[in-house]
Amino acid sequence: MKEEVSVLIDEETLIERVKALAEQINQEYAGKKVHLICILKGSVFFTCELAKYIKVPVTMDFMCVSSYGDGMTSSGCITISQDLTIDIKNREVIIIEDIVDSGRTLSYLVHMLKKREPASLKICSMLDKPDRRESQVVVDFTGFEIEDHFVVGFGLDYAQRYRNLPYIGVLRLEEA
Ligand code: PRP
Repeated sequence: MKEEVSVLIDEETLIERVKALAEQINQEYAGKKVHLICILKGSVFFTCELAKYIKVPVTMDFMCVSSYGDGMTSSGCITISQDLTIDIKNREVIIIEDIVDSGRTLSYLVHMLKKREPASLKICSMLDKPDRRESQVVVDFTGFEIEDHFVVGFGLDYAQRYRNLPYIGVLRLEEA
């Protein structure tokens, strides 16, 4: 199979939108501290970029969650291979995701993390595919709503590759 990537959201547009999301967070959390939970691995680039522009005090933690196999569709089975290292009780928590697709991962995470009694729990996602939703989740901060393309780059992978692209691209597989 030949793999072709075409640019969907270029680097400049992406960074401008990340800055705008950070500004929204700065306003909403003025006078407070935020605790960012980066959902590995896809969200690592987005979390780091976003954190650079947040002006209220930031703490960060990482959770490794995966729902996709090496293919292009969700396996439907959510696995947590690394849990948080910092207690979230009484913290203003924002879960940072690269993409919301079926919504199953976030529904599961929200349900699980609410039991740990954070002061608040919000969701920030770089991308959202609302047409694919199967589990309802409220995304509080969204970068871009996109159509049902298979996207890679800025953290998003295909078979663990392409995460390092500095833009969001659409991957097409063609018979060689
Ligand atoms: C992706 C993405 C979300 C989830 C979204 O993770 O980062 O966590 O899938 O899909 P959903 O809304 O259908 O649940 P993935 O399992 O590909 O792991 P990765 O971040 O390590 O690439």
